[in-house]
Amino acid sequence: MRLKDKVCFITGAGSGMGRTAAILFAQQGAKVAAVDLNPEGLEETVRLGAEQGGNILALTCNMTRAAEVAKAVAATVEHFGKLNVLYNNAGIMLAEDRSVVDTEEAVWDKTLAVNVKGIYLACKYAIPEMRRSGGGSIINIASFVALIGCSVPQDAYTASKGAVIALTKSLAVQFGPEGIRSNAICPGPIETPLMTEWLLTDPEAKAVRLARNPSGRFGRTEDIVNLGVYLASDESTWTNGAVMVVDGGITSNYF
Ligand SMILES: NC(=O)c1ccc[n+]([C@@H]2O[C@H](COP(=O)([O-])OP(=O)(O)OC[C@H]3O[C@@H](n4cnc5c(N)ncnc54)[C@H](O)[C@@H]3O)[C@@H](O)[C@H]2O)c1
Repeated sequence: MRLKDKVCFITGAGSGMGRTAAILFAQQGAKVAAVDLNPEGLEETVRLGAEQGGNILALTCNMTRAAEVAKAVAATVEHFGKLNVLYNNAGIMLAEDRSVVDTEEAVWDKTLAVNVKGIYLACKYAIPEMRRSGGGSIINIASFVALIGCSVPQDAYTASKGAVIALTKSLAVQFGPEGIRSNAICPGPIETPLMTEWLLTDPEAKAVRLARNPSGRFGRTEDIVNLGVYLASDESTWTNGAVMVVDGGITSNYF
């Protein structure tokens, strides 16, 4: 068991990659605080985890609200006694998010609030607990779109994920000396509700994205979470400040 007794706070665990992380981490022996805005999604995560004998605590929390995040971190430590891993996965990409010239201010603000402020708040409350626990690992989910431009833009989302990478490096340098490492994962397009519920319902948009990927398929949630397991485990204690791309090769593709 690669994560035996590690206490992991996983945000956005009510769906997609966060759900898979909660289940796979628990399978590897972790004690998981599954955090999400959506209690029904969390219920399903806990149910699926329990089927595999997983130890998952569900915490409903809006990651943009300081008081709720503070409460969720405190509840995790109260329940499991410590905190070793912060997996910042909650994120949104809104259908109304397009180019800067035609994106409404409210769409920009909401995207940045969830994707960037949410990570700031999680770190603010989790890092002191990780210090008390003797160190740990922060895993931030960015995106391949922070690394290359796109002629069909979602500019608020792209800017938010660029911020995630920049913040990851700052965290790595600040807290590395205390044994808290910070790394970012940049997933390529993964088949989760975030993609399938709107972007991939358009056959043309789907075909364009698929044609760009040398692997010939979209990613599966496990493709990303397998790297997450490595970053959460003691196998990665010298991995700090890295930005790791897992995208089937899409960002290497010029034509
Ligand atoms: N799916 C992709 O192709 C892809 C690619 C690159 C990066 N990502 C990133 O990966 C992460 C996970 O994405 P996914 O595809 O699994 O998405 P998803 O939509 O399936 O799941 C995201 C979860 O985050 C939760 N959430 C949203 N706002 C929240 C808030 N304010 N507080 C707490 N929880 C909140 C949602 O309820 C949902 O359960 C996101 O950060 C996303 O930007 C996704």
